[in-house]
Amino acid sequence: MRLNVAGRRSVLVTGGAGYLGSVTCARLIECGYRPVVLDDYSNSHPTVIERIARLTGEPVRCIRGDVRDGALLDDLLAREAVVAAIHFAGLKAVGESASRPFDYWDVNVGGTLSLLRALDRAGVRRLVFSSSAAVYGQSQQLPLAEDSPQAPANPYGHTKLAAERVIADVAATHPDWAAACLRYFNPVGAHPSGLLGEDPRGVPNNLMPYLAQVAVGRRKALTVHGNDYPTFDGTGVRDYIHVLDLADGHIAALRHLQTNPGVHCFNLGTGAGHTVLQLKAAFERACGHALAYRIGPRRAGDVAACVADPTRAREVLGWRATRDLAQMCADTWRWQRMHPAGYPD
Ligand code: NAD
Ligand code: UFG
Repeated sequence: MRLNVAGRRSVLVTGGAGYLGSVTCARLIECGYRPVVLDDYSNSHPTVIERIARLTGEPVRCIRGDVRDGALLDDLLAREAVVAAIHFAGLKAVGESASRPFDYWDVNVGGTLSLLRALDRAGVRRLVFSSSAAVYGQSQQLPLAEDSPQAPANPYGHTKLAAERVIADVAATHPDWAAACLRYFNPVGAHPSGLLGEDPRGVPNNLMPYLAQVAVGRRKALTVHGNDYPTFDGTGVRDYIHVLDLADGHIAALRHLQTNPGVHCFNLGTGAGHTVLQLKAAFERACGHALAYRIGPRRAGDVAACVADPTRAREVLGWRATRDLAQMCADTWRWQRMHPAGYPD
């Protein structure tokens, strides 16, 4: 086993300064790993790395750079004795992916290819990949199991599905390859310390950060995108999962890959769906005041409901989400209250 000087197993974390990557780095350290972050800060702040160090009491190694830079990866892998990689780096805005397909394919698929190539050259054949429920698209049958039909509804989903395909093809070339494609449902919440959270640039696309910004007074009112869906109250249903549960899913996957070569896909969700209005009500309970909202038209490309069947992750990885909607809202609110304008620049 390759250990670094401190005797800890080092893991390369691309995109480790981002929302999900930062919380996962903190959990990795708590679980005895040593994250080595590669991030170009295109959607994050260097201050995040200091926060992780403050939170865990451990210095965090971070290299600023682009995951598509093969020479940089070669150099990094030659210097750092990593045992595995977790690949978060990517572009993630569904709407934007339709107007910037070149960038989405380049970063999400090109970045994955570049990383796979470098890992293979270095003989580090263990990878956990940030995939998405977007690979399923509009499915008639809920909850979604890993073998549900895959028909992405947007370029973002296509890039995630293509990256999964590339991983499977590369993994088939060498018996040592072990990879886990983790299909996240709707990650929300923040680190309970309030030090790490989601800090979207500009107007948030996603529901939870939008609610948080209304609660803190940065936005006037939430627009609910449609209330005529065939759901409990007419608004969209999603499977919200706490970012810490998601981070723990990565630790479970890393452990699984130690003894299980091949490619494995897992849904990371709770198995429970909540509507937009239910999430709004839960956030109101967390922040202690009513949140203004209005009903708008449906948002193009939205599905009525998207809920995971997380059985495989429970049975194979021994992982399950444990944090409820109240905790997701309480932690988001703590983070937003402590950082009304997001991370300091
Ligand atoms: P994020 O934007 O907060 O984090 C991504 C990080 O990658 C950022 O720090 C960014 O600076 C970095 N990055 C982007 N392009 C890079 C490049 N070419 N080279 C190096 N670094 C680069 O996003 P997140 O919410 O933490 O999501 C992480 C991953 O999870 C993404 O791949 C995303 O597609 C996937 N995912 C996210 C969600 C979600 O709702 N947040 C849902 C499903 C899947
Ligand atoms: N919504 C609103 N108002 C808003 C924002 C969202 O009503 O201002 C509604 C949406 O219509 C939807 C629900 O809130 O019904 C959740 O929307 P999000 O934008 O928060 O999340 P999505 O389910 O659309 O997308 C998320 C990620 C994608 C990922 C997908 C599936 O953003 O990256 O989950 O994993 F692909």
